[in-house]
Amino acid sequence: MKKIILSGMRPTGKLHLGHLAGALDNWIKLQEEYQCFFMVADWHALMSEYENTSELSLNIIDNVIDWLSVGIDPGKAVIFVQSDIPEHLKLYMVLSCLTPLGLLERCPTYKEQLREVKMRNLNTYGFLGYPVLQAADILLYKAEKVPVGRDQLPHLELTREIARLFNNLYKKNIFPYPDAILTQTPKLLGLDGRKMSKSYLNTINLSDAPGVITKKISAMFTDPKRIKLIDKGHPDTCNVFSYYSTFVPKLKDEVCDWCMGAKAGCVECKKILAENIIDKVVPIQKKREELGKDKDRIKKILESGREKASFLAVQTMEEVLRAINL
Ligand code: TRP
Repeated sequence: MKKIILSGMRPTGKLHLGHLAGALDNWIKLQEEYQCFFMVADWHALMSEYENTSELSLNIIDNVIDWLSVGIDPGKAVIFVQSDIPEHLKLYMVLSCLTPLGLLERCPTYKEQLREVKMRNLNTYGFLGYPVLQAADILLYKAEKVPVGRDQLPHLELTREIARLFNNLYKKNIFPYPDAILTQTPKLLGLDGRKMSKSYLNTINLSDAPGVITKKISAMFTDPKRIKLIDKGHPDTCNVFSYYSTFVPKLKDEVCDWCMGAKAGCVECKKILAENIIDKVVPIQKKREELGKDKDRIKKILESGREKASFLAVQTMEEVLRAINL
């Protein structure tokens, strides 16, 4: 029996290179070795975007198309939508009964979002419970490993804590204590050097046309200490170089040599980066276009995902209800 992995993504808009480097490239590798469940976390999207849901159902399908285009294989991984499986909400409810409020109020992601997010009102009962639903997602499939970004580590800690509370309280060993799998690549920054995020308008999207990519990359900041062509550059502090490291590792040594030896300029360096990124996304976009025309195929994939996910989810929920005498 292969070990079970579960991960999810909120369908909040177009996927970008940050999703590729931070999650999808990892998912593609993991689907070979593990029984992977990849979930569109639409209830989680609702928790943070409940004020504007006009694009939610469109984004669900769009994200699945992106996943398939980059190489997530429905023959290997189970691809499903969270709200298709009612057991997520049932387990979430049960777990919410035993989750101490303090654990949620002290959660660093919660505090940060309340502080940083000004455009939406996240001061709600639902948003406080975000990590409880995430714990339910993971525990429902008894996943042992959860590939996530570093920012999600507090949610995994909480998941283990909630699993421990449940197992101890009801004296059953139903839930395992899942671990995170972190990506090897360091976090990809946006075009402006801040975290890559749709809300900062600093993304390169998987769906950007080649001309757009060239334009975006040519406007990127490079090493601020390298003003003239003859100045020697510092690749280790240059955001453009970090893109080479992540997406064009075969040119890394050469680029270091140009830059530190002042043999080529930043304009040239960015032009070559753009060409390489375009080479990477064009095949993805071709696949996207093909899949976009075949919505029935996407529906079938999600239906088959629903069946497979449901099989485990129903089983676990029966065990849970028995344990709590319901
Ligand atoms: N909270 C995750 C994020 O924003 C998305 C998510 C929802 C998730 N449920 C999950 C990730 C379960 C891993 C496992 O990235």
